Amino acid sequence: MKEEKIKELIAQMTLEEKASLCSGGDFWHTKGIERLGIAPSMVSDGPHGLRKQDQEADHLGVNESIKAVCFPAGCATAASFNRELLEEMGEILGNECQAEGVSVILGPAVNIKRSPLCGRNFEYYSEDPLLATEMAGALIKGVQSKNVGTSIKHFLANNQETRRMSSSSNIDERTLREIYLAAFEGAVCKQKPWTVMCSYNKINGVYAAENKTYLTDVLRKEWGFDGYVVSDWGAVNSRVEDLAAGLDLEMPSSNGENDQLIVTAVKEGRLSEEILDQAVARILNIVFRFAENRDKTAVFDRDADHEAARKIAEETIVLLKNDGVLPLDESEKIAFIGKYAKKPRYQGGGSSHINSHKVTSVMDAAAANPNIIFAQGFDDEKDEINETLVKEAVEAAREAKAAVIFAGLPDAFESEGFDRTHMRIPDCQNALIDEILKVQENVIVVLHNGSPVEMPWADKVKGIVEAYLSGQAVGAAEYDILFGRVNPSAKLPETFPVKLEDNPSYLFFPGEGNSVDYREGIFVGYRYYDKKKMEVLFPFGHGLSYTEFTYSNLQADRQRLKDTDTLTVSVDITNTGKCPGKEIVQLYVRDKESSVLRPEKELRDFAKIALLPGETKTVSFTLGKRAFAYYNTEIHDWYVESGEFDILIGKSSRDIVLCQTVMVESTTQIKRTYDGDSIYEDIYKDPAARAVVERFRKKQSTQMENQEKKEPEKSSAAKEAITEEMELAMMKYMPLRGMLSFDKGSHKELEAILKELNSL
Ligand code: BGC
Repeated sequence: MKEEKIKELIAQMTLEEKASLCSGGDFWHTKGIERLGIAPSMVSDGPHGLRKQDQEADHLGVNESIKAVCFPAGCATAASFNRELLEEMGEILGNECQAEGVSVILGPAVNIKRSPLCGRNFEYYSEDPLLATEMAGALIKGVQSKNVGTSIKHFLANNQETRRMSSSSNIDERTLREIYLAAFEGAVCKQKPWTVMCSYNKINGVYAAENKTYLTDVLRKEWGFDGYVVSDWGAVNSRVEDLAAGLDLEMPSSNGENDQLIVTAVKEGRLSEEILDQAVARILNIVFRFAENRDKTAVFDRDADHEAARKIAEETIVLLKNDGVLPLDESEKIAFIGKYAKKPRYQGGGSSHINSHKVTSVMDAAAANPNIIFAQGFDDEKDEINETLVKEAVEAAREAKAAVIFAGLPDAFESEGFDRTHMRIPDCQNALIDEILKVQENVIVVLHNGSPVEMPWADKVKGIVEAYLSGQAVGAAEYDILFGRVNPSAKLPETFPVKLEDNPSYLFFPGEGNSVDYREGIFVGYRYYDKKKMEVLFPFGHGLSYTEFTYSNLQADRQRLKDTDTLTVSVDITNTGKCPGKEIVQLYVRDKESSVLRPEKELRDFAKIALLPGETKTVSFTLGKRAFAYYNTEIHDWYVESGEFDILIGKSSRDIVLCQTVMVESTTQIKRTYDGDSIYEDIYKDPAARAVVERFRKKQSTQMENQEKKEPEKSSAAKEAITEEMELAMMKYMPLRGMLSFDKGSHKELEAILKELNSL
């Protein structure tokens, strides 16, 4: 509906009617105003399927929703590194929403995986903001192409479940910009989600729902967001302040109480009616955008979408280790062991929980293969060794050519609403793997989990497959990958540390009381492990294939550039193996020398390409200023420090195969202010400032030389003790005011120098 039309409608509303539109009519609908032809509009969870509830509503996945299709969760889809795939998944979800009359699907969930313990990591994409925002953006693009809205969530810094409704995420400005805001930024700026969902937590002491800095200054003014901001369910704390800060729609509702607070605040002049009108306009704009673009032909074809879910799952399963055991041979006797072979764990618990219309387990997929034998091995209800089940499993493993153990985290171990307390799979499963290893040398573990786990048996087994939580068709995808009908092509969107204690947030997660300090700063995930040169179990970006890829011919279209230019980089990838495959090519940038602390390298782009055996394709990347920049808190903006940068092309973050260095020149002059505490090293970074100081020092040394001429013996002894290099090294941390004590300067001279420096 045209802006003017919406304005006309608002002009006809009473104050009470306007306020009423700013909260839900029930758990899943906005309110309507019948006399003005405004109908309620439905929203539903998300993010990896449709959780449309018709009857009893709840936000924790407790009550049933309609039968739908569960696609792979965010943890898994991110592993595909495939934008087109996410877009296709979005199109399917958008179509399902059209068929079911859902105006906005509540997702994608893009929060950074700060700790492997976050109970909701399975819904989130990555520890890396670029990967997270690109995946989210692709999904948004797909859904919205069907004229259905998305709600990118949970804005902002909601990286744990512990005390999620009261905890304050305390984060410095640079870290917020480079990591936590960046996860939203690309998707919001490029794909324009119809809505944004604000999170429950506080950011630096202010609830996300009433945080004007992020809801209005950053989201709307800087990033150009023009949809409505909806509260996470129950995130509203102080309705009038929230509205003024930029929170438009409260969900689900406060039974009219908060609407009344808005009315009173306007009447008492504490809230401008314009702000209310603006929120109503934003909400109506989206309500009508959906209503006016209904696709009456849309059909929710669950079987077709199940097939699509299978195709997607094929690209989300990561082959972590393969000592020549995979792919398996269908003519050999293979033991499938573990409960998850029959009852896979394929999704997480909570608001994203889908009522799957059918589930394909790997045993279902193996129905036509007479050579598969099955043993349950463990029960995931309680973490106890079941001797009978273990015995059966050992017997099955003994008689087979290889044993595949379908292990992972039970539902009770990870879910929305609480965090994990350790990173282990159940002890009974680890014990089972050990027992199987005693009788079988070809052991493969297939993991079902939403977040990294410790693998004490990693060196002993011959194959490890990370299936993540890959949706209701997971078994079919697993079978095809295990037997080589599908070549695995996913890579890890996060680091698997050797042990929990290695994680950078370990000491500060989940905080103390209602406060969590993000003290590791920008060093999240591989940014930390790389800087510390730490051994990890599996690095960010790692994933194997049944074929081989060779990288060559890295080219940059220029060796020198300004930070306002773009750099185009290309590289040739050849499939040098025997079967078709897909490769994920990763581009990282390293600042070779920086005056601020920076990660060893950062992911700046990636591409996924399909190659037949012997085929070569050229992959091109275009890098702009942000690829080289860090967030400078002096100028509160992105800043490139002039100097050399390495362009690194890798198969993973720890397998960099090509490198090229370019010189980037900054076009931003940072105006510095100097005082007596400014040290020589910092001053000398600016050639003009250096010249001023050196002029003074020259004068002083001439005076000293004259003095030396008078007492030659004294000075030559001193010169022997201190070399010029040493003098410079000592000097660099000297504050300017040190000239008074050591350079025979005067207060007057210091003032004159400062005046000159500050006028440069
Ligand atoms: C979750 C959201 C979800 C909402 C509605 C909240 O508890 O945090 O992600 O969209 O409930 O179910």
